[in-house]
Amino acid sequence: MSCRRLEVDACAKINLTLEVYGLRPDGYHALRSVVLPISLHDTLSIEESPELATDSGYPDDLILKAARLLAPGRGAFVRVAKRIPAGGGLGGGSADAAAALRGLDRFWNLGKSEAELMAIAAQVGSDVPALLCGKPCWMEGRGEKVTPLSPREMEQAGLPFVLVVAHPGVASSTAEVYRNCDCRLDFPSEKEYNIHPINDLEAAAIRLHPEIGVLKAAMGEGAMMSGSGSCVFKKVRDEAEAARLAGELRARGYWAEIAHTIVR
Ligand code: C5P
Repeated sequence: MSCRRLEVDACAKINLTLEVYGLRPDGYHALRSVVLPISLHDTLSIEESPELATDSGYPDDLILKAARLLAPGRGAFVRVAKRIPAGGGLGGGSADAAAALRGLDRFWNLGKSEAELMAIAAQVGSDVPALLCGKPCWMEGRGEKVTPLSPREMEQAGLPFVLVVAHPGVASSTAEVYRNCDCRLDFPSEKEYNIHPINDLEAAAIRLHPEIGVLKAAMGEGAMMSGSGSCVFKKVRDEAEAARLAGELRARGYWAEIAHTIVR
């Protein structure tokens, strides 16, 4: 019996900016966001199996959706060591799907091109293309249009940096937060090259879950929500400040982790 096994890391993301520009005819919102991969990650372990399955416990797991779109009918067992909190705006499920696409493409020797993998990623979910990219990037359209940040934009974004990410103890529903957000009216004709941290979904998420606002206040100036929430992150000066802040938050009962941005 074969004991072939492949491990692949699935890195979480934060949204340093997230601008929401109204509802599109397909029911999704038009977005523009600076997405940063971070060191917090799940680990996928892929093994031989006649059937396609995961140990995640979710029947509608994005790993399964990604695998079926990549190679219908093929089998593999995907074990997931979970560290990224679910419903946290850190792209946990999407990161697992992106890592599954990369890992299974290698495991099954499919040799798909980057463009083919990106097209499948867009069908799996709005955040999956940016997570498949794995670099600091602009995410636009519904999420399917991904452009790596230029060196100048990386500098503007203050990369690389250390951050603390914390969970308020409530999960937020992406669809519900989008339904309740106030969209921008003016659609951008072209990119402005000033990257200012902002999240258009934050006010709606805090209205729905005041716990997010409480956590944000506890983290102090510069803290902001990631994606549709509920996690809040804060860029800090160094590891020592990160350890202090994470320690304070854990002492108050919050899940908190130190991470750094991934710059490839
Ligand atoms: O694509 P995904 O399944 O991750 O999206 C989850 C939900 O988030 C969608 O059903 C939609 O309500 C909302 N969404 C949106 N506009 C986007 C991305 C997500 O309205 N660009």
